[in-house]
Amino acid sequence: MTVKTALITGVTGQDGAYLLEFLLDKGYRVFGLKRRSSLFNTGRIDHLFSMERDEESAFNYAYCDMTDTSNLIRLVNDIQPDEIYNLAAMSHVRVSFDMPEYTANSDALGTLRLLEAIRILGLKDKTRFYQASSSEMYGNTIISPQNERTPFYPRSPYGVAKLYAYWITVNYREAYSIHASNGILFNHESPVRGETFVTRKITRALAGIALNLQHTLYLGNLDASRDWGHARDYVKAMWLMLQQDQPDDYVIATGITTKVREFAIKAFKVAGISLDFRGKGINEEGYISAIDKDIFSSLTGISPDHLKVGQTVIKIDPFYFRPTEIDLLVGDSTKAREKLGWKPEYSLDEMIKEMVISDINLMKKEYYLNKGGFNTIRQVEDIF
Ligand code: NAP
Ligand code: GDD
Repeated sequence: MTVKTALITGVTGQDGAYLLEFLLDKGYRVFGLKRRSSLFNTGRIDHLFSMERDEESAFNYAYCDMTDTSNLIRLVNDIQPDEIYNLAAMSHVRVSFDMPEYTANSDALGTLRLLEAIRILGLKDKTRFYQASSSEMYGNTIISPQNERTPFYPRSPYGVAKLYAYWITVNYREAYSIHASNGILFNHESPVRGETFVTRKITRALAGIALNLQHTLYLGNLDASRDWGHARDYVKAMWLMLQQDQPDDYVIATGITTKVREFAIKAFKVAGISLDFRGKGINEEGYISAIDKDIFSSLTGISPDHLKVGQTVIKIDPFYFRPTEIDLLVGDSTKAREKLGWKPEYSLDEMIKEMVISDINLMKKEYYLNKGGFNTIRQVEDIF
């Protein structure tokens, strides 16, 4: 059996980590592209990388940036991949308002550079291409739920850059017969979600509040609704798209939308803390309305004596509002369910529980490592 070779850009990100694990399990040889950084940025994938120098590893990485055309072309030529998964992007919507030009360069032109590499190197009959397109492209659409035929109306520099990447992928498919597909993925999260996206920000802050290391969580728009799935389910859809005879575009979503406020209520509930909200607009705040001591203690290992009923734990900080917001996203993934046989396995509640437990355990480790000075992770694991 021939071993397939995959190239993943953005392998150090949330989806890169889950996809890498998925492809290695399938017997692929994988090359990941990572950026040079002054600190280690491979925390999500270190467990998948062989530490033995002389071992023939199924996973290797190379340094590259999506803004570096010559290096991208050289690497695609060297690797001669059967499949390219283009996951690299400046992926934070709020930050894209501060860095619009860089976002366009990496997210829009970066995609073009990879497609050009396939074309220039004559790899169109060998290399299949997956583009990480986004529900953010729907933006201000009034049609709900959104499917592959819903018109786009992006509301951020990130959304606009992703729209270019979407259309250039379609164009290279039609113009040059490249097997190029767009996965239009709705929000997907996990315990390794970036800490500044709202779901992870909530579960991390909850861990801090529960362990008496933080008092208040500052959020922006609590009324925004998102269709949240689990990254582990969504990377499977990426792979399925590249196994089809014909390239195409697919919406990947759960079909259920939830407000940010509701997500926070569900997360705190996992730790036995009931949340309620009072006040309006920027004066709205979330406060503790009840505590189930048994649930709290069994999850955290400590008593909740530092928390009081009536205590405010969530406040609004307008800094987190966006110049233009998307109020509601909810996807219709009927096409993917029928043609790819894909459906999500995780429920929102299961995912939130996994994230909360993971963040409480992580924060305990971080805290005791800091406190303990030379404590090793092994010793901390022994404590908990
Ligand atoms: P993520 O965690 O932010 O990971 C992004 C990855 O891209 C990281 O590996 C990052 O490297 C890398 N990267 C950023 N800029 C780069 C550049 N200029 N050159 C090379 N690498 C660069 O994002 P994710 O959640 O895994 O999402 C994966 C992809 O799907 C992204 O394209 C995102 O826009 C898209 N998407 C995500 C969602 C979602 O809900 N998660 C939904 C729809 C679409 P560092 O680790 O060094 O920062
Ligand atoms: N990040 C963040 N921080 N968002 C907040 C906060 C906060 O403190 N408070 C409220 N929100 C709201 C945002 O205004 C937005 O409406 C919603 O929570 C979700 O924000 P994010 O988690 O940052 O995700 P996103 O929807 O903007 O973008 C993510 O999903 C896209 C797919 O629709 C990213 O992963 C994008 O890369 C992805 O394409």
